[in-house]
Formats: sequence, C-alpha cells, structure tokens
Amino acid sequence: MGSELYEPVNVYKPIASDIGIVDGPFEYLTVAGVKMPMPFTTRMTVVRLANGDLFLHSPVAFDEGLAAELQALGTVRHLVSPNQFHYAHIGEWQKAFPGTIAWASKGVRQRARARRVDVHFTRDLASAPPEDWSREIDQALVPGSIFKEFVFFRRNSRTLILTDTIMNFELDKLAQPWRTFTKLSGMHAPRGEIFFGMRIPLWLQRTKTKEVIRKVCSWQPQRIVLSHGRCFDGNADEVIHRIFGE
Ligand SMILES: [Fe+2]
Repeated sequence: MGSELYEPVNVYKPIASDIGIVDGPFEYLTVAGVKMPMPFTTRMTVVRLANGDLFLHSPVAFDEGLAAELQALGTVRHLVSPNQFHYAHIGEWQKAFPGTIAWASKGVRQRARARRVDVHFTRDLASAPPEDWSREIDQALVPGSIFKEFVFFRRNSRTLILTDTIMNFELDKLAQPWRTFTKLSGMHAPRGEIFFGMRIPLWLQRTKTKEVIRKVCSWQPQRIVLSHGRCFDGNADEVIHRIFGE
C-alpha cells in the first residue's frame, strides 16, 4: 500500500472559533540536492486574528482555490516559518499576496539561500510574541540544535500549535520503508513521540527544555495541532506530561 493523504487537501477545516487546519499535498525530502522517493504529508494551521488578519503557520504549497477560500476568511498577513524545515512555500504565498509579512525562524534564511528557494523574510521570530499577535497567541522557542522550533499557543481556543517537536504519524497512511522506521521510532498514533532528531539535543539542553515545557504546561492547552500525523483533539496536557515527563 502507498502513502495516503489527509483528504480533502487544500481546504480549510475549522477546529475551533477562528482557527483551522489545511492538509497539504505530498511533500518530498531533499537530501544533498537529491529528492527522496518517499512522500510525506504536512499541514498548515490558520488563525484568524481579531483585526481580521490571518496567521498562516507552516504554509502548504500555494493553491488558487485555497487562497480564495482564505481571502474570504480574512486578510492573508503573517506567513510563519516555525523552524528551518518548514518554509519552502512561503515565497509562493508572498508573491500572491504582496502585503504579507514573512516571519523567519532560526537558521531559515541560510537554509533557503543554500537551497536557492525564492523567499524574502521580512521579520524574525523571537522567544516572546510580537505585538502583531501577542494578545491572542503566545509563543516559545523549543531548543533542539538545528531542529529548534517556535511553538505557538492560541489562547482563546487553548490550542497548542507544533510543527516537528511531536510527530504522530498514522502507520496505515505510510508506505514502506517509512512505516517500519516510524514504528521503531515511536512517532506514531495514537501516542506520538518527540521527533527523533530532537531527543539528544533536548536532553543536552535539559535546563532550557524544562523551562520551555514548564511554560507550555502553564498554558494548559486543550488540543495540539501537529504538522505531521494525527492531531490530539483533547487531553493535551496529559499528552505533554506523558511525552516530556513531569
Ligand atoms: Fe516537518
């Protein structure tokens, strides 16, 4: 059996008031300039801020129909790259919507330059949220060496928005050899796990990690949206405690 998408793709799926997800088409990892043959899925989260601006977290590939649907929801404004691996489609959205602000994560500019991806980052994310969304969304930087990631918390729906920090792939949606590898790594539904590449860096930076996890726990999230695999629709604090410990 081949890999499966989270159908329907390129459609806004509301999860609570003023927040929803968009499942994207297949993506392919490129290693040393070589496109890997195994596809994987990724997901964008869209938050509608009180002023009508849309916050697009980890934008999926640009699609005309999706763009029209989002325009009906609000003004496409913030294009957010939460880590240096989720940025590849920001330039496409920037071209379609010239009034947008592209937010850079740590190391993403260098990565985009090295891979000749056409994107112009306008502002940098920091460990505290910018005024643009600080009343509605909080954020923190999870350490993890090159995998470090900005995580976000949508206050009114108590939604934690993660990218690669936790992965929860559904094994029956994966083709081999990813399925076996994912099974061995523990990063699969229903329990999910920390992305394997982050585990040693997080342990090496455990004081910083503890601080961030404490902050995430203080948010008391209800649900967790992930970029890869099945989201956690409830008991988010329980999931955080189980995965990161006390
Ligand atoms: Fe990812």
